[in-house]
Amino acid sequence: AEAPPRDTRGRPLHDLRISVMDRCNFRCPYCMPESTYGEHYRFLGNDERLSFDEIERIARLAGDLGVSKLRLTGGEPLLRPKLAELVARLRVIPGITDLAMTTNGVLLTRHARDLRAAGLDRVTVSLDTLDPALFHRMSGGRGALDEVLAGIEAAQAAGFPQGVKLNTVVQRGVNEHSVLDVIGRFRGTGIVPRLIEYMDVGNRNDWNREAVVPSAELIAAIDARWPLDALPAKYPGEVATRFRFRDGQGEIGTISSVSQPFCGGCSRARLSSDGTLYTCLFAVQGTDLRAPLRDGSSDDVLRERLRQVWLQRADRYSEEREERRQRSRPKIEMHYIGG
Ligand code: GTP
Ligand code: 5AD
Ligand code: SF4
Ligand code: SF4
Repeated sequence: AEAPPRDTRGRPLHDLRISVMDRCNFRCPYCMPESTYGEHYRFLGNDERLSFDEIERIARLAGDLGVSKLRLTGGEPLLRPKLAELVARLRVIPGITDLAMTTNGVLLTRHARDLRAAGLDRVTVSLDTLDPALFHRMSGGRGALDEVLAGIEAAQAAGFPQGVKLNTVVQRGVNEHSVLDVIGRFRGTGIVPRLIEYMDVGNRNDWNREAVVPSAELIAAIDARWPLDALPAKYPGEVATRFRFRDGQGEIGTISSVSQPFCGGCSRARLSSDGTLYTCLFAVQGTDLRAPLRDGSSDDVLRERLRQVWLQRADRYSEEREERRQRSRPKIEMHYIGG
């Protein structure tokens, strides 16, 4: 691989997040509310989604440009048939040193071992509460807490070399009381919970600033119960801020894109399930890669398109949100771009 291209703010291209499936078996109100994503919502057809061949090709070209980290997302990535086959194909791309997946966890009991065998390095499972009734409600009436806990256990048992993390999106008045439960339950297990500030992703989740619980507030509460030490960032623009329990019982993280935006070091590109490349989670527009993939364009042409998109990139949405407190504008939906 060559030296990665740098965007207009000097940020190198390091990660590619690949949404392999726009559908999800949950309807979390902050992501895919049932009122919008009901029976009549039109998801992509099978031939509109990139094939494994096409995804592998883009990943390989991204690898040529210096991408070393791939993350599979959705919707729900495990709804994509034979996902482990894709994992195995991505695993052997030269230069890819970190291959991860973000999932709601329901299907992990069935797939964790195959994914591990195919070469997946690590798994992140969404888990917003340990209260079964609230969990059911927060999944839009689709999910059962027990299934997800079983999925987390299956992931841990499968022995992913880089381990298992949890994503807990915290909303004021909804699940903030669940935070200490989640932290307490996974202390000492090797699983790393991360508390995520509720973000204004997409256009349909009725985001308001009052519903955001600043991470500093949660860290103060956790530190009062189980003293914490801050850990240094592993790389500039790291998504999570890390802490460790002073008594050696493990690590937690906070993801504070509202109270402490991290656009300054953001090195992530995103590929949606229909083959559109986005340079920000909050992008309005992307670049179609599916048409050139399907009209016989050469690797050189495709690689050059990728490079040009990155060279022109100027996104810093989370920083602008704070500077302007701007009114929301139309954005790409979360289930489509993968978080
Ligand atoms: P690690 O590689 O383990 O650090 O994963 P990650 O935190 O980058 O990925 P994950 O899919 O687990 O995302 C955790 C949360 O961070 C989700 O709510 C994402 O939407 C959010 N997130 C990830 N990348 C970005 C980003 O570039 N910008 C913003 N604003 N949020 C992000
Ligand atoms: N704010 C913050 N995080 C979100 N996620 C989904 N919607 C939001 C939101 N509005 C998280 C999910 C998943 C990750 C990919 O993104 O919980 O773990
Ligand atoms: Fe919930 Fe994740 Fe599905 Fe969105 S993609 S509805 S956050 S489980
Ligand atoms: Fe990167 Fe956009 Fe997130 Fe900022 S808001 S960290 S530019 S994805």
